[in-house]
Amino acid sequence: MKVLILMGSPRLHGNTAELCKPFMEELTKQGAEVKYIELEKKTILPCKECYACQEVAGEYGCAQKDDMPAIAKEMLWADGIILATPIFARYCTTKMKAILDRHYGFNKYYGSAEGCLWEGKKVGIIATHGYDGAYATDPFEMGVERLCKHSNLEYIGMYSVQDEDNLASFQTEEAVEGAKQFARKVVEQLQ
Ligand SMILES: Cc1cc2nc3c(=O)[nH]c(=O)nc-3n(C[C@H](O)[C@H](O)[C@H](O)COP(=O)(O)O)c2cc1C
Repeated sequence: MKVLILMGSPRLHGNTAELCKPFMEELTKQGAEVKYIELEKKTILPCKECYACQEVAGEYGCAQKDDMPAIAKEMLWADGIILATPIFARYCTTKMKAILDRHYGFNKYYGSAEGCLWEGKKVGIIATHGYDGAYATDPFEMGVERLCKHSNLEYIGMYSVQDEDNLASFQTEEAVEGAKQFARKVVEQLQ
């Protein structure tokens, strides 16, 4: 049971990272193997729309020289991928969006290569946001759900907490317990 957390906040010790702590703690307690990637430390260029990946069978095959091929390798390693992000301008952060855009390397739908390299993987969201509940998270959640459908992935749900008082909002018993509960849900889905 392998879980990869892609942590998309530019603040390495901010709200989203804080919410990931009890989540990861519980995942490990439940016997999952967990990897945590801080996207802020990585170079992740935007998709250039060159379609080179569509001609490379059986591997990610992106022509760009940055950290994305290594991240793609970890995504292929995982059974479950958690997109942990603050909501920025109604969606996710720039680096998270670049990763999502560059899903073409997994989906060989548009060239001579065929197949879907990440088919069947489970995808979940951890989100933090300034606005209240679904008003804040709906656009991103809907986008991810549709991307999952398009990519033959299984969307397993979201855990989100509103930023009302900076870090303190993510340290309450309710926030911490919710993160642990979400971890147990993820583990259940992966078994
Ligand atoms: C540039 C920027 C854009 C934001 N846009 C939104 C938004 O569209 N909707 C929302 O609910 N919150 C928005 N927020 C609030 C953050 O999502 C929220 O404070 C989050 O918890 C920050 O998490 P972090 O500390 O992990 O970066 C924005 C914050 C910033 C800095």
